Amino acid sequence: MRNADVLLIAPASANTLAKLAGGLADNLLTSAALAARCPLVVAPAMNDAMWEHPATRANVATLRERGTTVLEPGTGRLASKGEAGAGRLPEPPAVLAAVEEVLAPGPHLLGLHVLVSAGGTREPIDAVRYVGNRSSGRMGLALARAAADRGASVTCVAANVGLERDSRVRYVDVSTAAELHDACLEAFPRCDVLLMAAAVADFRPVEALEGKVKKAGRDELALRLEPTADVLADLSARRRAGQTLVGFAAEHGEGALAFAREKLERKGLDAVMLNDVSQAGIGFDAPVNAVTVVTADGEHEVPRAAKEAVAGALLDAVARLRTGQERPA
Ligand code: CTP
Repeated sequence: MRNADVLLIAPASANTLAKLAGGLADNLLTSAALAARCPLVVAPAMNDAMWEHPATRANVATLRERGTTVLEPGTGRLASKGEAGAGRLPEPPAVLAAVEEVLAPGPHLLGLHVLVSAGGTREPIDAVRYVGNRSSGRMGLALARAAADRGASVTCVAANVGLERDSRVRYVDVSTAAELHDACLEAFPRCDVLLMAAAVADFRPVEALEGKVKKAGRDELALRLEPTADVLADLSARRRAGQTLVGFAAEHGEGALAFAREKLERKGLDAVMLNDVSQAGIGFDAPVNAVTVVTADGEHEVPRAAKEAVAGALLDAVARLRTGQERPA
């Protein structure tokens, strides 16, 4: 097990999925899975009622959140006599493709330059305080890594990101929206794909106060804010043929899709990756995400999964968009 590059469980019964989700290690298989230090791919096979049972749905969701690749079962005749539905072991080519994807995602982006912005900007109030936001940079860094995995050369403009870095990516560290704007302007002409994942401040203090503001003698402290430039809209206005521009939208609940579509059009983008931040446990600061890819042609759901897995799916959607194949529908 120590030397394995991937662990594939095919077929995986409803019982095994439940044990894996619960971290049980009561037989050789589940003990190996718990001790494994490599990616896990699971190909379920069971009765359709078992697959659709809320307990199995929850177990599958838990496993996917942890980064396990759980394939969708095939549909058709099942082992139980006369029964048909979703639950057949996926066909061998589908299982093989999933393993290959985990081991080495196709070099869909070979020869392309991808520019990613990540993290959240900080706008100084005084020498030690700032107006910031909750973005950790985890999604942006996962996108940068996924683009490198797919053969792209990658520049990542990182705003206040304190996470582990990938040696294949060139990082440009910035702090404020203005610095991020300058760094993106500098790198943009060379890029083929822009992934604007950073949470950029929309407003900043009109002036940063000198030194550290003291509270003594103050009943209140008013901050006056002014708008920052919209970096993405500015880059979009300078775009050249052949560039693919992707924006990110964190929206809340009802109307999220309409807001994302409005952003797509207003900022002249090829795709908007929409996060509905009203869903518990996803988006800002969280290790998991769930995204809707919104394009001029329609929408395409990327189900809830570890940000690394979501990043891979988004990059594959971008690659398809560029080749015009299988446009998200
Ligand atoms: N963006 C940017 N420059 C800004 C603000 C946002 O480049 N000053 C980018 C973000 O990186 C993201 C997209 O624009 O890709 C988000 O669009 P935006 O309209 O700014 O979203 P919100 O900040 O959520 O705006 P609103 O409050 O209008 O919904």
